Amino acid sequence: MPGIVVVGAQWGDEGKGKLVDVFASKADMVVRYQGGANAGHTLVVNGKKTVLHLIPSGILHPDTTCVVTSGVVVDVFGILDEIKGLKNNDLLQNPKQLLISDAATVLLPSHKALDAAREASLTGEKKIGTTGKGIGPAYEDRASRRALLFGDLFDRETLRAKLELHLKEKNHLLETLYGQEPIGIEGLLAQIEQVARELAPYRCRDTSHVISKALKGNKRVLFEGAQGTLLDIFHGTYPFVTSSSTLSGSACIGAGVGPTQIQQVIGVFKAYATRVGSGPFPTELNDETGEKMRQNGREFGSTTGRARRCGWIDLPALRYAIRLNGITNLALMKLDVLTGFEKIGICTSYKLDGETLMEPPVTQADFSRVEPVIEWFQGWNQDLTKLTRLADLPRTATNYLDFIGNQLATPIDVLSIGPGREQTLWVKPLFNN
Ligand code: IMP
Repeated sequence: MPGIVVVGAQWGDEGKGKLVDVFASKADMVVRYQGGANAGHTLVVNGKKTVLHLIPSGILHPDTTCVVTSGVVVDVFGILDEIKGLKNNDLLQNPKQLLISDAATVLLPSHKALDAAREASLTGEKKIGTTGKGIGPAYEDRASRRALLFGDLFDRETLRAKLELHLKEKNHLLETLYGQEPIGIEGLLAQIEQVARELAPYRCRDTSHVISKALKGNKRVLFEGAQGTLLDIFHGTYPFVTSSSTLSGSACIGAGVGPTQIQQVIGVFKAYATRVGSGPFPTELNDETGEKMRQNGREFGSTTGRARRCGWIDLPALRYAIRLNGITNLALMKLDVLTGFEKIGICTSYKLDGETLMEPPVTQADFSRVEPVIEWFQGWNQDLTKLTRLADLPRTATNYLDFIGNQLATPIDVLSIGPGREQTLWVKPLFNN
């Protein structure tokens, strides 16, 4: 029962999609357990780029079953577009390759409208900087027990009744609080019914059962996290977080498997740090070094196109992520992006009111006041993107990696040196083979 969770150890955009795609060649199943189309997982195969938002990153491997579980908020229009895009590229030819849980939350245009209206009503530092994909409002509906579930799409009466209740409330908010146009029921109902017909082949009544069966049958199951640890609703930099739990434990809850089914937790992090949207980011570089990182790393959101904030790697934040997720192994992504920096910084601790902190403080008010303590390392100029052996890494890069591995006291098993599958260096193979 090799259940492996792949989790983001920073603020999202760590490169989980590439890693899951690479691992998926050895996995039987890839499972999405939280989040929604706010995620953007970029995969590059044979130079061709595919961006996925809701469909698990294993979908490029035709023999890997991909599962969207009840913990996910599913934009039904968005997922249908993704399916069509994949089919047009000769992928997802067998509908059995993708299973969408009947218990997943349906995310509607009204959730997006509310998300956008709320953000627009906030000013300056109060803005969360959401992706505008309706994530917060959709999870609110789930928590307040009025969400439309994926299985409801296939029962006309339930669909109409739930949609009526939904629009009554959402239109009231949109019109009276935010001065927006209401959404008409008949048009939306007709659109949803059409989408439901097209999504019917992917419907699965109980994905947790399918996953349990796979684990019992000794299949290799990868649980693919979205966003990152510091964006977790309970343990992130609240309120500048997403609306789901992004931690490894959420894999058990969202997918419906017991914690004893998880063998390994792989923490994915970049050789530097980025963040999109507002909130504390102690190592942020608002200068030309940060700009160089952004350009070299193509650090622009794959969902929103927004420029990502960039900074040096932050070990206190990573220590926190390792502890919260129970990370057993690390994957370091985008090492190639640091080529050409004369000196490279590593934040080893924070200072707050004269105290040294090895992990972030709990409140975001304190977090936004910490001073990063930076140690400097010599950089390298060699292009790393074509390397095929670890032994060929420049010595200065090895020093950098060894320092990080020692500080984090967790093995770095995989290094990524470019977006392609082949640009991956293995320190230790996955699934021990
Ligand atoms: P939301 O998830 O769209 O509500 O956005 C809440 C916060 O999480 C914002 O700061 C977003 O920029 C951030 N966020 C959401 N999804 C991602 C992601 O996949 N990568 C990086 N940041 C994200």
